[in-house]
Amino acid sequence: MADFNLFDAEEKTLEQAEELRHGMADAPAAIRDGLATLIDSYGRSVREQRRLVRVSDRLQAQLATVNHELGKRKAEAEQALDDLKSAQESLVQAEKLASLGALVGGVAHEINTPVGIALSCASHLADATQDIKKLFEADDIGVDDFKRYMATAMDTTSLILSNCERAAQLIRSFKQVAVDRTSSERRDFDLCAYIRETLASLGPHLRQAGHTVSIDCPGGITMTSYPGALSQVLSNFVMNSLVHGFEPGQIGEIRIEVDQVEPDQVRLTYADTGRGIPDQNRGRIFDPFFTTRRGIGGSGLGLHIVYNLVTGPLGGNVSVESPAKGGTAFVVTVPQVTASPTV
Ligand SMILES: Nc1ncnc2c1ncn2[C@@H]1O[C@H](COP(=O)(O)OP(=O)(O)OP(=O)(O)O)[C@@H](O)[C@H]1O
Ligand SMILES: [Mg+2]
Repeated sequence: MADFNLFDAEEKTLEQAEELRHGMADAPAAIRDGLATLIDSYGRSVREQRRLVRVSDRLQAQLATVNHELGKRKAEAEQALDDLKSAQESLVQAEKLASLGALVGGVAHEINTPVGIALSCASHLADATQDIKKLFEADDIGVDDFKRYMATAMDTTSLILSNCERAAQLIRSFKQVAVDRTSSERRDFDLCAYIRETLASLGPHLRQAGHTVSIDCPGGITMTSYPGALSQVLSNFVMNSLVHGFEPGQIGEIRIEVDQVEPDQVRLTYADTGRGIPDQNRGRIFDPFFTTRRGIGGSGLGLHIVYNLVTGPLGGNVSVESPAKGGTAFVVTVPQVTASPTV
């Protein structure tokens, strides 16, 4: 609008100048020529100004389109980021479920032995009872028969009892590990006992290949923390040693050492004697989706979850080391008492 007013005013000035030139027909030629030149150059400058205004309008329109396009792209990028975040969350959830699945498999395997023994003892006792019942009904029971039966009954019942006790104890400890994994409850627990329980639940995976595990942990460290998170960290380390560390056919060693660097800080060193992690990968292993087994079972989330659990609920830090004697070592440092959750 302002432009039009400006152009109108310029137009008027030009008309007035023209009138002035006509009105000065009698003036000396030099003045008239001067005036004509002035009017001419003023006219040119007005035309140039209009051209510039048109160019500027065009540029402004282009800028508005670009801005609009940028806004659209930004919204699209934000949407993509949201999608990626929720995909990541569901993958993390899937990984939790997968490791729970492996745990359940381990539990079934471990419990199979005591339950199997108890079952065959019970069936042996049932047969022996049936035999003695027959003798009793036929009124043909001797003292020796009765003594033999008593011995069988004592042996089998004590085996049934001890194996049921073993199964019950396994169920108790696995239940603890399994529940803690999903409920992420903060509570007091004995660190060494808990590490042993977790490793026991992974036992079948390790024993199958003959690997050995040693745990060096000074007793009496009570943690107020998230045992479920800790057990998931350990089982991810163990799974990685099995999948990535040990060569096929190799009988590997896993060593877990716990020490207290400061009064309320616990340092857990997990080391395996596997093939190690090449220098160029060491800086990336905690990144989500970094895996050297893409397409053959690796999702690259295991160590990312470890990192999140250690730096998140456990309130500590984790690093990877490359021991001079080979293999891989992870060092987890966590406070003995974690901050209570903010509600
Ligand atoms: N103990 C180890 N020995 C050798 N390499 C390892 C070890 N632990 C981890 N790595 C390397 O670090 C990478 C990332 O491990 P991470 O646990 O995050 O993913 P992944 O095991 O490949 O997949 P996922 O755990 O999701 O099944 C692995 O692909 C492997 O190259
Ligand atoms: Mg892994």
